[in-house]
Amino acid sequence: MAVVGIVPAAGNGERLGASEPKAFALCAGRPLLDWSVDVLAGVCQRVVVAVPAGREHGPDRVRGGPSRSASVRAALLVAPEASTVVIHDAARPLLSRDLVERCLAAVYEGWDGAVAAARMTDTVKQADRDGRVLRTLERSSLWSIQTPQVFRAEVLRRALDVDEGRLAAATDDASLVEDLGGAVRVIEAPPDNLKVTRAVDLELAGSLLMAAR
Ligand code: CTP
Ligand code: MG
Repeated sequence: MAVVGIVPAAGNGERLGASEPKAFALCAGRPLLDWSVDVLAGVCQRVVVAVPAGREHGPDRVRGGPSRSASVRAALLVAPEASTVVIHDAARPLLSRDLVERCLAAVYEGWDGAVAAARMTDTVKQADRDGRVLRTLERSSLWSIQTPQVFRAEVLRRALDVDEGRLAAATDDASLVEDLGGAVRVIEAPPDNLKVTRAVDLELAGSLLMAAR
């Protein structure tokens, strides 16, 4: 019975445009990846990181796959002891221990999965290919989904046992669990659990991390 952390960190970071993969770009003086690994290490028995090819140095670093979910699957394969899995993107360095613990608590209560999420603050419209608005969606039931995402390991293993095309189409791991009929719930995240996608995000995350220390 082990809680295993998985950090997908194998992306190229094309939108960031740094000289190295995003997870290795410096944020408040350390590789972006290290912030998330530190928090997970305080909650998990083991943390496995999926990294780009050629960076598999050290224990618990595995080569990632061609898509984010393929990277998660590669990491999970080396952790057969996992009974509960905490997945958290290297791209979200402001992870709080409290958020991980609230997601874990939901899975211990019996949910198959629990995912960090933010309420939509913008109005959300659906438009066709030409940009013509079709409808305005009812915002009160919409959530923007983040990581951490916590799962019962047995359910996650089954969910990831699909072909590469389905893995590549999945924008998060919970959607694969939902496809199996798994029960997933949202857990409201603090407003600073931001994702580093572009250079401006890296600057903002760095400032927030420096201010918090
Ligand atoms: N990721 C991964 N394996 C992949 C693709 C992405 O482990 N084949 C990881 C990234 O390292 C990141 C997380 O999934 O921590 C979320 O992906 P994203 O923010 O899209 O990062 P990148 O794919 O690196 O960025 P970009 O899409 O701009 O290239
Ligand atoms: Mg990407």
